[in-house]
Amino acid sequence: MFCGEQAKWSGFAPLSVFRYLTIYVYCKSSAHGTPPRDMVKEMQRPKIGIVVAITSKDAAIGKGGKLLFHISDDLKRFKAITKGHPVIMGRKTYESIGRPLPERTNIVITRNPDFKAEGVTIVHSLEDALKKATTPLPPLLNQGGVGGGDEIFIIGGGEIYAQALPLCEKMRLTIVESDAEGDVFFPDWRANFTHETFREERFDKKTGLKYVWSDLERTT
Ligand SMILES: NC(=O)c1ccc[n+]([C@@H]2O[C@H](COP(=O)([O-])OP(=O)(O)OC[C@H]3O[C@@H](n4cnc5c(N)ncnc54)[C@H](OP(=O)(O)O)[C@@H]3O)[C@@H](O)[C@H]2O)c1
Repeated sequence: MFCGEQAKWSGFAPLSVFRYLTIYVYCKSSAHGTPPRDMVKEMQRPKIGIVVAITSKDAAIGKGGKLLFHISDDLKRFKAITKGHPVIMGRKTYESIGRPLPERTNIVITRNPDFKAEGVTIVHSLEDALKKATTPLPPLLNQGGVGGGDEIFIIGGGEIYAQALPLCEKMRLTIVESDAEGDVFFPDWRANFTHETFREERFDKKTGLKYVWSDLERTT
């Protein structure tokens, strides 16, 4: 239901205007005529991406409110990918992290109208989270990414991944070769994300874990 709405988001006006003008000038100067409406809408729409670490056995992502693995290089990669972008997470994931992630605008989803947390934006639906992620903030309040970020990241946990997956276009998967037992799982993505744009096989000396970084794009 959000897919149709994504194209309507226009809360990041300055960047959109810039993009529109760029396309317009390109089209006019290269005799293509007026830019097609769909092309402009496509350029305006920030991509929604997922970042997640799963087990190879059954796509478990967590247990007892905690992560299953702490792989230093993977955490560094997570930071590098999400830095400067809005990150959207469920209340349970926020509480398991215990603090706002720095240099990112943290958007936390809860049904609890009384939920309070310092340094994060609290919303009560995924739809509102996505709207907030594209709403410009004054420069002093902007912790990176809000209002013009070209990619918004969904960072968990299981409930939020399940709701957001149909809206996502890109996934950064970390697949850990492990049969660790989890109590929260990532939803099945395989049928819709078949185009792999990046793959790297890795080994973590500290934990002895083999894992793969796999970036995927939506194909259906
Ligand atoms: N491996 C990874 O990459 C990764 C990444 C992130 C998290 N995790 C793990 O995943 C686990 C947490 O996942 P989870 O599924 O239990 O919880 P979650 O998705 O983090 O948060 C669930 C909470 O989000 C709120 N919520 C969900 N849908 C909502 C909606 N449509 N509208 C309003 N609020 C909504 C509710 O909060 P209220 O109850 O406050 O209403 C709900 O209890 C932890 O073990 C964590 O470590 C793993």
